[in-house]
Amino acid sequence: MKKIYFNSDEEFQNFIKNGKDLGEKKTFLVHDKVIKIFNIRGLLSSGFIHSYSNRIISNSAKLNQNGIHSLNITHQLEFIHNKRLSGVIYNHIPGIPIRDMSIKEFTKSFLKELALFLSSIHSKGIYFRAMHMGNIIYHNGNFCLIDVAKVHFYPWSLMSFTRARAYRRFIKYPKDLKKLGKNNLELLIKMYMEESKFNLLNKLIFKCTLKILMNHNYKLIKRYTLFFAILFLIIWLI
Ligand SMILES: Nc1ncnc2c1ncn2[C@@H]1O[C@H](COP(=O)(O)OP(=O)(O)O)[C@@H](O)[C@H]1O
Ligand SMILES: [Mg+2]
Repeated sequence: MKKIYFNSDEEFQNFIKNGKDLGEKKTFLVHDKVIKIFNIRGLLSSGFIHSYSNRIISNSAKLNQNGIHSLNITHQLEFIHNKRLSGVIYNHIPGIPIRDMSIKEFTKSFLKELALFLSSIHSKGIYFRAMHMGNIIYHNGNFCLIDVAKVHFYPWSLMSFTRARAYRRFIKYPKDLKKLGKNNLELLIKMYMEESKFNLLNKLIFKCTLKILMNHNYKLIKRYTLFFAILFLIIWLI
């Protein structure tokens, strides 16, 4: 992987001078290239050990190897003056994120294609943690995953519980839900379950987890689960 080094913020600002901001001043479009920057927040982060740029490079390569369209990364950016920053450059992908498609395009056949795609990545053991409508690009009947710094590759097909968790971001943003519509979401889930060949138990686990995730705060659920696990362990030990 070719590297580009920056010794100051000024150097980097100069580098992206004519770029179009694609979101929150961390993703820029310069001609047909996308420049994406990661910034580690907080004192402790695994990002100091395994940088986000390294993660997105290895994840996109693994996705492409698995036959899933993803980023074609050409350069890694190193920020000598700031170890919190890392970045990559990749080719711009033609098409638009599902989030930006028009409502009219959410036809039954499109939802079927999407259900098939999501089911196929999950069957391959791919858990895309940022799976939401802004991170899936649609073009000419193909789906492509972007923003892939957080992906887990399991050697087995995802279990129903993990599959439901993978939908967490998909159902998180009210704006996305409003645009997709309740009926379309229900249809997508129904077709996804059919495509994934769920049995009754799979369906039950998947639907219940999804319902909990839709109606409750995920972080709070995680905290409570951890709390009760520790409590249970303490009671068991004494
Ligand atoms: N390779 C790409 N091809 C086309 N558009 C892209 C590409 N990468 C990013 N974008 C656009 O930029 C937006 C933000 O990029 P993303 O990597 O998702 O950053 P973030 O969500 O962290 O702001 C995307 O929603 C998409 O519209
Ligand atoms: Mg994104």
